Amino acid sequence: MRIDMHAETRLPEALLDGLRNARHVVVFIGAGASAESGIPTFRDALTGLWSRFDALSLATPEAFERDPALVWGWYEWRRMKVLETQPNAAHRAIAALASRVPRLSLITQNVDDLHERAGSPDVVHLHGSLGAPRCFRCSKPHAELPIPQEPEGGRRLEPPRCEHCGGPVRPGVVWFGEALPEAALHGAFEAAARCDVLLSIGTSGVVQPAALLPGIARDAGATVIEINPQPSVSSAGYAWSLCGPAGQVMPALLAQAWP
Ligand code: OAD
Repeated sequence: MRIDMHAETRLPEALLDGLRNARHVVVFIGAGASAESGIPTFRDALTGLWSRFDALSLATPEAFERDPALVWGWYEWRRMKVLETQPNAAHRAIAALASRVPRLSLITQNVDDLHERAGSPDVVHLHGSLGAPRCFRCSKPHAELPIPQEPEGGRRLEPPRCEHCGGPVRPGVVWFGEALPEAALHGAFEAAARCDVLLSIGTSGVVQPAALLPGIARDAGATVIEINPQPSVSSAGYAWSLCGPAGQVMPALLAQAWP
């Protein structure tokens, strides 16, 4: 059922009861959850990163081998942008939800650290993290990076060298054509298959295998609630589609479930 969310919208009791009575809630996050912090999504027309930059030149292992300075510079620019932002009301509401339900698994496709900064521990990062660079050659983690100084997206910057083998250091994110971290993916599938409620927040649901999670939860009998200003390709198959920005919908959902 689709509900267009406004300031006065009263959510159905069936939805609120489902959340209140859930023993295990999975919160599945996409770029839209960080949009109100000022971090661009990937696929929104005009503002999305993949409408302004070429994914194949920036987000594949081949691109890094071809031009490491181009790729490193672009990710350092993104890391700088994230450092300049703050968690928004959606991040804070999700951290608060964890203290309302017996168990909450927070699974994100995002590479920022805004959930951690909002107070959520144990975030599962399916697509890696901007804050966890590692060696492209030997895969050993690289020590903490200084605050980046890149003023503009796309400026070339030579990557640091690995202190162990001298190889170039790469961003700790999952690129197109790469496998997701095995333990994270396994844990996410397991949580989706066992939860009572899955909240899918701010994702277009087109990037596999992460996009399988809401369907896994639904097929296992969980209630899936989507939160997105524009319903995603899959939302017709979910129990509830709350149409509105996460920074407004999530606090409203919590306030109405636990008045
Ligand atoms: P997308 O850019 O594909 O989708 C973002 C979604 O957020 C869209 O459905 C928007 O309608 C929605 N949205 C925008 N503003 C919102 C708001 N304020 N509140 C809630 N929703 C909002 O981003 P993802 O689905 O996260 O992969 O993309 C998945 C993956 O594709 C990313 O993790 C990234 C990218 O390539 C890697 O980096 C490996």
